[in-house]
Amino acid sequence: MLITLFVVFNVDTNTLKHFCRFLMHPLDVGSPTACSMYTGKELCRFLKKRRERDEALSILEIGAGSGSVTREIIKEKQDKDLFVAVEKDKGFAKSLKKEFDQINNVSIDCADILDWEPVQDGCFDCIICTLPFMNECISFDGIRNLFDDKFPRWLKRDGVFSFVELSLYGTIARGWLAVKNFCRNMLSPILGPAQLSEYEQRLEYMDRIKEENIFHVELVKNNTPDIYVYHACFHG
Ligand SMILES: C[S@@+](CC[C@H](N)C(=O)[O-])C[C@H]1O[C@@H](n2cnc3c(N)ncnc32)[C@H](O)[C@@H]1O
Repeated sequence: MLITLFVVFNVDTNTLKHFCRFLMHPLDVGSPTACSMYTGKELCRFLKKRRERDEALSILEIGAGSGSVTREIIKEKQDKDLFVAVEKDKGFAKSLKKEFDQINNVSIDCADILDWEPVQDGCFDCIICTLPFMNECISFDGIRNLFDDKFPRWLKRDGVFSFVELSLYGTIARGWLAVKNFCRNMLSPILGPAQLSEYEQRLEYMDRIKEENIFHVELVKNNTPDIYVYHACFHG
């Protein structure tokens, strides 16, 4: 039935691969659809800008999945640039290796980003990340470890960290949080101050990260569903 739908709507094999992995590991994959080419291009915005300096670039992609964003990065990559993609899912990593491993200075690492380290700190010009931070594929401690330590440490001082958030998902999660907070405030004289759940702390933490570090944001409408692309700097 599903296969027939995909054939009728002329869905390509990468979309199908992404959707099947989503059915198997919904939390890790995070979204039933892969990022569109337009999202990939937006994620490469500062990679293109950095290119103006005419020096070899070092790029890290996190959560490469079925390779929709990887393909856009590879279009921008020059021979001298170094590109590393980290993907936790073995099936995705295998097909990424098949497609990209033979390109000069490209390596595909099948690893959990929480256990991964680059050969050297402060080496990346750009980190492009499509991990679904808003769902619980990575623990809150893991997220803090990435944003408080790893990402700032791995980037060059003027390096750019680009990441995504599904617009609908963010709106629903924040709407729900606002309703809960309203009810809590109403009930606090009777019940006393309430503890925030881990998910609420994660939401607040991500909002603070955005507030403090983002210098450019775009809503990409040519993506199913709409997606925000954020560009951040961690060193002022
Ligand atoms: C939302 S999908 C994005 C896939 C692809 N970049 C795209 O745009 O279509 C998130 C990807 O991150 C991977 N992932 C999730 N947790 C990870 C982790 N801890 N380390 C590395 N990759 C992870 C998933 O396997 C999945 O391929």
